[in-house]
Amino acid sequence: MSMKAETNEQARPHAIQIRNLRIDPPLLLAPMAGLSHSALRRIMVGFGGVGLLSTEMLSARRLPTENPRISPYLIRTEGEGPLSYQLLTSTDNEIGRAIDKLHACEADAVDLNMGCPSPAVGRFGAGSMLMEQPDVARRIVAEARRRTALPLSAKIRLGSEADSEKLKKFCAMLEDEGADMITVHARFTHEPFARNPRWAYIAEIKDCMHIPVIANGGIFSAEDAEKCLRVSGADGLMLGRGAVIKPWIFAEIAKTVFGSDITERAVFLPDVYAAFVEALISDYRPIYRLGRLKEFTHYFARNYKFGHSLATRVQSSGSMEEARERAGAFFANNGEESRPCVGIPG
Ligand SMILES: Cc1cc2nc3c(=O)[nH]c(=O)nc-3n(C[C@H](O)[C@H](O)[C@H](O)COP(=O)(O)O)c2cc1C
Repeated sequence: MSMKAETNEQARPHAIQIRNLRIDPPLLLAPMAGLSHSALRRIMVGFGGVGLLSTEMLSARRLPTENPRISPYLIRTEGEGPLSYQLLTSTDNEIGRAIDKLHACEADAVDLNMGCPSPAVGRFGAGSMLMEQPDVARRIVAEARRRTALPLSAKIRLGSEADSEKLKKFCAMLEDEGADMITVHARFTHEPFARNPRWAYIAEIKDCMHIPVIANGGIFSAEDAEKCLRVSGADGLMLGRGAVIKPWIFAEIAKTVFGSDITERAVFLPDVYAAFVEALISDYRPIYRLGRLKEFTHYFARNYKFGHSLATRVQSSGSMEEARERAGAFFANNGEESRPCVGIPG
């Protein structure tokens, strides 16, 4: 083994243990509205390599009345685990009932959304607005800690501006109030996804924390994963869009970066797409299917050189049948790229 390989080996983080939850490998699916749901999660599980799955953000106010059998936010099949449920709230008053519901859903972990920059979310004081109101955030974490023995995490951004003292103070508060782990999306509140992530900022946070710190933002390949770990010094990685484009990316990173024992298997893009469609049809009510297929296709289409054509055709479809037919025609016309790749492709 070369010196370089040895150094990487030593620097590479290992499984994360928080309370009774082992995250192995330390690779996490990001919560993503309209995307991090059962149909996509089960495809990722099929490829392997995900240490912790996630739901999308769940309104703590509405959650208690959701029916887990039919709610597209709560549907979960066997094998989809461990699964963290993300709560969105602006007040500690909603935490108790929401957590009772998560216990009933057999959640494996609870995450608190403190990073969503959407104006619709910010307007009622939730998401990234909580980083501007640390006392409210403190009450929310403290109440969540009081209400559950499950592993508790918070997902944040870097804050509204470069102020590392303020950021570190916020993170220390989360730890003091009982958070078991934090995830940092390495962008300031108002920075768009197109901007390069600021992984080095995570290293500053990591230096002063005693709980695991997960790095998130802009990881689309095993090379990105290696670089992010090196620059951030994080204990683990969370992937969002990269995992929607390539649901097998966790398997690839687990194998090449963390040395996990993952069996290589062929990836045939039309089959991955078909499995997603089948999952939607078998488990989701008709009104919840097409929107989710469009959302997924928007990202999955990036596997193709002319993927914008696939995305546009599905986007303008009026029914699942039409979307399916159009996608099928696209795959047939782009046979070269649809051929099975041997092993887990990059
Ligand atoms: C469509 C979409 C929906 C998202 N929804 C959520 C959400 O529900 N909760 C959350 O904390 N972050 C949400 N995010 C942010 C992601 O969790 C993640 O922080 C961000 O996409 C950066 O990671 P990536 O570069 O790996 O995609 C969303 C992102 C996208 C693209």
